[in-house]
Amino acid sequence: MTAERSNASPLLEAAGIEKSYGATRVLRGVNFRLQRGEIHALLGGNGAGKSTLIRIVTGLASADAGRIALRSARDEGKPPVIAVVHQELALLPELTVAENIGIVHAPSAFGLARRGRGRAVAAEALRLIDPAMAERVLDLPARRLSLHEGQVVEIARALSIGAEILLLDEPTANLTAGETEKLFVLLRRLAREKAIGIVFVSHRMKEIRALCDTCSILRDGRTVVDAAPMMALSDADIVSHMGQPAHRAADSRERTQGAGDPAKTLRLDGPDDTSLDIRPGTILGLAGAPSGPSALIAMLVGARSASPWRLSGEGIAAPFRSPREAIRAGVGFVPGDRAGKGILAQLPILDNVVAARRVRGSRGLARAAEREECAGLVSALQLKAGSIWDLPGTLSGGNQQKLLVARWLDLPLRMVVLEEPTRGVDIGTKRDIYALIRRMADAGAIVVWWSTENGELLELCDAIFAFDTDGTPKGYLAGERFDEDGLAELTGMAA
Ligand SMILES: Nc1ncnc2c1ncn2[C@@H]1O[C@H](COP(=O)(O)OP(=O)(O)OP(=O)(O)O)[C@@H](O)[C@H]1O
Ligand SMILES: [Mg+2]
Repeated sequence: MTAERSNASPLLEAAGIEKSYGATRVLRGVNFRLQRGEIHALLGGNGAGKSTLIRIVTGLASADAGRIALRSARDEGKPPVIAVVHQELALLPELTVAENIGIVHAPSAFGLARRGRGRAVAAEALRLIDPAMAERVLDLPARRLSLHEGQVVEIARALSIGAEILLLDEPTANLTAGETEKLFVLLRRLAREKAIGIVFVSHRMKEIRALCDTCSILRDGRTVVDAAPMMALSDADIVSHMGQPAHRAADSRERTQGAGDPAKTLRLDGPDDTSLDIRPGTILGLAGAPSGPSALIAMLVGARSASPWRLSGEGIAAPFRSPREAIRAGVGFVPGDRAGKGILAQLPILDNVVAARRVRGSRGLARAAEREECAGLVSALQLKAGSIWDLPGTLSGGNQQKLLVARWLDLPLRMVVLEEPTRGVDIGTKRDIYALIRRMADAGAIVVWWSTENGELLELCDAIFAFDTDGTPKGYLAGERFDEDGLAELTGMAA
């Protein structure tokens, strides 16, 4: 390419990027361009190489081959500052918001002077984004922030150091619908008013459409769509470029609800005289801000023995005293916090998959049988792994999620509790997981499923139990209110 005027050249241009981990060729020639003021979707199935590309662009990993050019639009002599926001926060929990922002600014010779200045910089950066929030959170320790507030603080921190490129790797995976919309308003404003170039990674087609104007798609480590206008691609085009099988549209509501043995009905009692009878085979959605669903879930899975919630029925009385007791009673759990609660990071994929079978202890499987069972589940879920002996940390985010679901498949369960099981999972795999959820219900389990994606709850659940924003149970959604509006109203998250 010949020399161009600097304001026409991209902020970021990567060409022919290659990267292998051992024998695994992760990137095999990736091209990517980001213009200023653009919101650019970086798409691809689980394991396609999106996060790896982001790590390379930010210097966290080095490429084996290829070229990266960075050009600031503000200062031709310098590369633009790049900031990354992940689905997990990168704030120090015990420091205040002001300190978390101030900490990235160059230290001066005098500690005290620096502290005062850091606070001023932080206040200014946050006020630009959200003046009301700035007043409220500036002196709070970061651990007291909601995830959305934490992300806003990270973005403010990025702006305070003059970032021109913002890379967001599945930032909405843990946000509620209302929080996602607020984040999008902010991102659009940054792109428009500050000409910041934004890369947005997500598996949620609706969000991608709502936010992005340009789209690049990776498939098996190659760029298959290079900076196409979003409008030029239909959803079906995108799915097919990603190399995912086309699925039939909603095939969901054809089964009879709660078809299992009525004698196995479970009763759930909770605060404010809440009481529900749940038939086996029911898919019960939980909707609303995290605090309400997570308190209920903690009781169901044996993580909290002091709880206002009770579960009772033939052969079951909860709160359980431990997770082990819950598992033995036939309650499976796919936790939302992969890294903290779900994945056994030091053990190979094999042990991660058969872990629940071992705790149940009902079928003392021989090692060889375990291996076979694990291999079967891995292929049924199309879990992309080098070998079942690899550590789970080598899997992409979506494949780690599949690992947690695999753990409970084909076990005789009374109940399976799912926290955002499709978080970070690509579009094709989402459909597969929906089918697995239905398979668990059809096998007679009660499925309790918390999701921040109201659309998927409405599509698959027989009933939805909603909590409002402060975690109070608000009751059932059913009948003619069983739609987005009804749910938004019940959860107090109407847009
Ligand atoms: N440190 C590593 N060692 C071995 N393999 C790795 C390592 N890091 C990534 N990989 C492999 O690289 C591939 C691409 O991973 P990457 O995380 O970039 O995918 P992704 O597109 O972000 O997927 P997802 O949508 O699931 O987040 C995966 O198959 C993964 O197993
Ligand atoms: Mg990723």
